[in-house]
Amino acid sequence: MQLLVFFGFLFLNSLNSLPIPSSYVNNDYNKLLPFYLQQVHLINSTHSPSLIGQQLNQAYLDLLPVDRLLYTYYVNANISVEGIEPLGGWESPSSDIRGVFLAFYLQASAKAYLAYNNTHQLIKAQYLVEQLYRVQKNLDESGFLAAWPSEHLRKLEHLEKVWAPIYCYEKLLRGLSDMYTLTGLTLAGQMMNSMLDYLYTWMIFCSQTYSISHWHAMIFSTLGYEYGGISDFLYEQYGLTNDKRYFWMAQQFDNGKFLGALALNTDFLTGVHANSHVPPVIGSGRRYTITGEEQYRLILENFYSIVWNNHTYSTGGSNGGNGSIGFYQQERYSDSNLLSQTLWNNNQEFCVQYNMLKLIRMLIQWSGEIKYVNAYERIFVNSIWGTQDPSEPGHMLYSYPLGEGVSKPKSVGGGSTGYGSQFDSFWCCYTTAIDQWTKMSDSIYFYSNKNNILSIYINLFVASQLDWTEQKLSIQQITAFPRETTTNLTFITLLNQISMNIYLRVPSWIVSNQSWIEINNIRQTIDLIPSSYVHLPRINWRNNDRIVYNMNMKLSYEPINDNSKLVSILYGPIVLGGLINQAKILSNDINTIRKINRTSYESLLFETIALDGTIIQFLPLYEIINQTYTVYFPIH
Ligand SMILES: *[C@@H]1O[C@H](CO)[C@@H](O)[C@H](O)[C@H]1NC(C)=O
Ligand SMILES: *[C@@H]1O[C@H](CO)[C@@H](O)[C@H](O)[C@H]1NC(C)=O
Ligand SMILES: *[C@@H]1O[C@H](CO)[C@@H](O)[C@H](O)[C@H]1NC(C)=O
Ligand SMILES: *[C@@H]1O[C@H](CO)[C@@H](O)[C@H](O)[C@H]1NC(C)=O
Ligand SMILES: *[C@@H]1O[C@H](CO)[C@@H](O)[C@H](O)[C@H]1NC(C)=O
Ligand SMILES: *[C@@H]1O[C@H](CO)[C@@H](O)[C@H](O)[C@H]1NC(C)=O
Ligand SMILES: *[C@@H]1O[C@H](CO)[C@@H](O)[C@H](O)[C@H]1NC(C)=O
Ligand SMILES: *[C@@H]1O[C@H](CO)[C@@H](O)[C@H](O)[C@H]1NC(C)=O
Ligand SMILES: *[C@@H]1O[C@H](CO)[C@@H](O)[C@H](O)[C@H]1NC(C)=O
Repeated sequence: MQLLVFFGFLFLNSLNSLPIPSSYVNNDYNKLLPFYLQQVHLINSTHSPSLIGQQLNQAYLDLLPVDRLLYTYYVNANISVEGIEPLGGWESPSSDIRGVFLAFYLQASAKAYLAYNNTHQLIKAQYLVEQLYRVQKNLDESGFLAAWPSEHLRKLEHLEKVWAPIYCYEKLLRGLSDMYTLTGLTLAGQMMNSMLDYLYTWMIFCSQTYSISHWHAMIFSTLGYEYGGISDFLYEQYGLTNDKRYFWMAQQFDNGKFLGALALNTDFLTGVHANSHVPPVIGSGRRYTITGEEQYRLILENFYSIVWNNHTYSTGGSNGGNGSIGFYQQERYSDSNLLSQTLWNNNQEFCVQYNMLKLIRMLIQWSGEIKYVNAYERIFVNSIWGTQDPSEPGHMLYSYPLGEGVSKPKSVGGGSTGYGSQFDSFWCCYTTAIDQWTKMSDSIYFYSNKNNILSIYINLFVASQLDWTEQKLSIQQITAFPRETTTNLTFITLLNQISMNIYLRVPSWIVSNQSWIEINNIRQTIDLIPSSYVHLPRINWRNNDRIVYNMNMKLSYEPINDNSKLVSILYGPIVLGGLINQAKILSNDINTIRKINRTSYESLLFETIALDGTIIQFLPLYEIINQTYTVYFPIH
């Protein structure tokens, strides 16, 4: 691979001198602040699903050749593709949304560099940006850049059939923005600005040429026109630059009908396509963090509670059905009163859960409320973990089956069956997955600095190290969660002592009276109230201070919304799958299920005897790769 070096990045920036990360953070609206990816690293332990998944994903990023990723962009700009084999699936030359995977590849590369210092990945992504710059120059259309011709926007204007040009355009804007703001690549910033200029000019043209109702038809009328996170992106640009153009542009993508209904807290989500509706709600959240308009916060809060309370499975996942009509529709939200009839082989698309994590992260920041962290964890451990076949990189799920006698290799989504393949899938659940797996160290810790008192919030139990260089402090978290219920936190500092509040999350699922906290081997007498933060009774911390936190987990039944006798079985926050192809009736006494495996070197394994005498074994859903399983069981 030959590197063409353009102005602005003759040498790599060092991780310590990076520019401000892209997310616009206005402290007025945030109780908790996130750490940047370069401050938190995943570390190994006897069981680290986040790290293993991240490494597998990196192996996938590594095996994708740059020229194949660029193929459709080259074709679009009349650059020779001789000797290059095109990719398949949603990236194939005939796909309307070609080029989106590369856009996410840039996002993931920037994060791989920040999160685990993968300079090799950064160099690969810099090369891709340089080639995209060639494409943008060759296209010579006032900044337009895509793997498809600008004709797609004309088709939108004429309300002709075309698949999601605005969505595609936004993904590339985001990819360039991440390369610019996260890794300091100024060329990417210039290219992004040119793309924005083009978009602005086009939108001005549309506003002068077409009526508002025509514009609304162009943007909101069909699922094929899915417009993705464009409002989120544009509001963020407005926050970063104060350029009013971006505010105006963002507003044109606020769907008044949809957002207005949410502002009124009405649940009209039945039959609504999930993944095209989560990002615009995140856009509302972004608008709130920039303008402080309360109704935009309310829109996001209401959306969350409607989805969470009325359309969500025990895994935290929230869409899918088994047919193509009414409340059964695939990729749609189901009727909350009929959820039990939607359990099938194509529930919860990965990309929806990815977007829900983004949305819930906003709620965590705004409110610091533990219920949102519980929700975040539920999705994280059940709907992110367990979506890759670990036998080889690049085999990931579109939807996650939650039905009776289902299996991941027989899941349905993206127009095919089972785990996808390395070069012929590239679904929306691949694009979002490569980004998700590079940022698995995100949202484990938050902090606040209100009234100049530092506080750290420990939210997720994931083997990791927080390196807070400014404070001359590291905190190492060692855990094999959930195979073991303890997590051990050690302070590392060169300072004599450091003053800060430590807040540990007490999860909703904890068995309080069998859980405890030790500081330097001394058992603390503190109440552990489920769904709260426990404030540790110590302010001054020294090198080598150690907290051992044991969170006892219990088995529980969680009924589905519309049937109190149809339950999913959880161990702490972990959803279990029964290794059986039939939903046998279980005893309503949860104590009939017993834990078999005891050490953190083995999978959690449980066993019970169904009422008809059948012995059923259960594994965490995330540890099931190819076996047939059943998630919901009737109890009697
Ligand atoms: C992580 O630790 C486990 C157990 O200590 C070990 O078996 C495994 O090889 C380690 N993995 C890596 C990538 O270091
Ligand atoms: C594409 O490139 C070829 C070879 O460089 C050239 O002959 C052809 O005119 C170009 N086509 C367009 C549409 O620019
Ligand atoms: C990042 O990796 C490079 C080598 O690729 C190394 O020189 C550098 O010290 C690393 N930086 C950090 C902060 O780990
Ligand atoms: C939605 O969930 C809320 C909270 O659990 C509940 O009060 C409400 O009845 C549910 N609505 C429907 C239609 O099920
Ligand atoms: C949907 O699932 C139900 C059982 O839950 C089944 O009877 C029905 O045939 C399924 N429909 C389709 C279209 O697969
Ligand atoms: C799952 O099945 C696929 C297809 O048969 C196979 O390639 C893969 O190795 C299996 N994975 C595991 C972990 O057994
Ligand atoms: C955490 O510390 C406890 C108490 O010293 C120890 O029993 C346990 O093995 C440790 N866990 C890990 C993952 O290091
Ligand atoms: C713990 O509390 C539960 C009720 O929440 C009670 O049933 C159980 O007996 C208690 N166990 C101990 C060891 O005190
Ligand atoms: C623990 O679970 C695994 C299945 O993941 C099984 O192969 C192993 O035999 C179990 N160990 C014990 C001691 O039951």
